[in-house]
Amino acid sequence: MRQFNEDTLTAAVVERLSRGTKDERFRQIITSAVKHLHAFARDAQLTEEEWFEGIKFLTAVGQKCDDKRQEFILLSDILGLSMMIVALNHKTVPGATEATVLGPFFAHGAKEYGYGADLREGSSLKGEDVYVSGRVLSVDGKPIANAALDIWQAKADGIYDIQDPDAEFELRGRVRTNAEGRYAFKSYKPKFYSVPDDGPVGDLLRATGDHKMRPAHMHAIVSAPGYQQVITHVFVEGDPYLDADAVFAVKDSLVGKYHKVDSPEEAKKLGMPCPFLRLDWDFRLAPAGGSKARATIAASDAVA
Ligand code: BEZ
Ligand code: FE
Repeated sequence: MRQFNEDTLTAAVVERLSRGTKDERFRQIITSAVKHLHAFARDAQLTEEEWFEGIKFLTAVGQKCDDKRQEFILLSDILGLSMMIVALNHKTVPGATEATVLGPFFAHGAKEYGYGADLREGSSLKGEDVYVSGRVLSVDGKPIANAALDIWQAKADGIYDIQDPDAEFELRGRVRTNAEGRYAFKSYKPKFYSVPDDGPVGDLLRATGDHKMRPAHMHAIVSAPGYQQVITHVFVEGDPYLDADAVFAVKDSLVGKYHKVDSPEEAKKLGMPCPFLRLDWDFRLAPAGGSKARATIAASDAVA
C-alpha cells in the first residue's frame, strides 16, 4: 500500500501497527491512540511549526524527569488525565470514601507510629496544631481494626519533605487503627500550595493563563485486608482554591472541617497546646473485589 492522503492514512497506520500483535488489548489501545492523534491533528489543522513545538515541549518534559521528579505525571495531572484514569478505574461503591489523585509525593518507608502519634516531631517548620482522629469503617459501618493509614502532607511552606534535599521525613507516617477501628495523630493544618512550576509544565500553565495552586489537603492511603484500598485526600473547608484545583482532584465528600478547640482540659488530655484545631474524619472502605489497587502502590506494600 502507498500513496496515502489525509483521508486514508489513519486506517493504513492502524492496520500496519496492529496486524503483528497477538495481544488484543494492545491492538485496541494502539488503534485508539492513532485514531485520536490523527483526529487531533486534523481538527487543529496542525502546522509543521506547531507540530515541532509539540515535539520540543515533550522532549523538555522528558528531560525534566529524574528519579525524584516525574514531569510526565505532572503533565497528566494538569491535563486532567490522572483524574480521568481515577474516575474510570475507581467507581465509588456507595458509602465508600471517594478516591482521588495520588500525586508525586508519596514515599515508601515512612515511619510507623502508634495511636495518638505526633507526626510533627522533627518538623523544620511550625504550623497550626491539629489533632486528627476518626475511624476506619466498612461501608455498612463496621469498625476495621488494624487498618493502615499512610498519611503525608506539605510543610508550612507548601513544599513536601521529599522535595527538599535537606529534609528528613516530615509530616508523614503510617498509623494504624486500634481494636475499635479508631486512629489518631497530631499534625499541622495543611496549607494550599503550588504544583512544581519550574519546568515545562509550569510554562504550559503560564501560557494558558491558568494558575498552579492546589487547595490545602492531607493525603491518605487507607488499606486493610479484605477491603479495597483507597487513595484519597482530606481537603480543608473554606480553602480559596477548592473550586480551582490545578489537578481537578476535589470532591465535595472529601472536604473536612477543622474546628477550633479552646478547652484547656481537652488540650491537656490530648497532649495539645491550647487552643488547637481538631479534624474528625472517618474513612469507609468497600469490600475487596471490583476495583484494583493502583499500579504505583502494590496493595501488599500498603497493607503489610
Ligand atoms: C499533590 O497533591 O501532592 C500533587 C498532586 C498532583 C500534582 C502535584 C502535586
Ligand atoms: Fe499534595
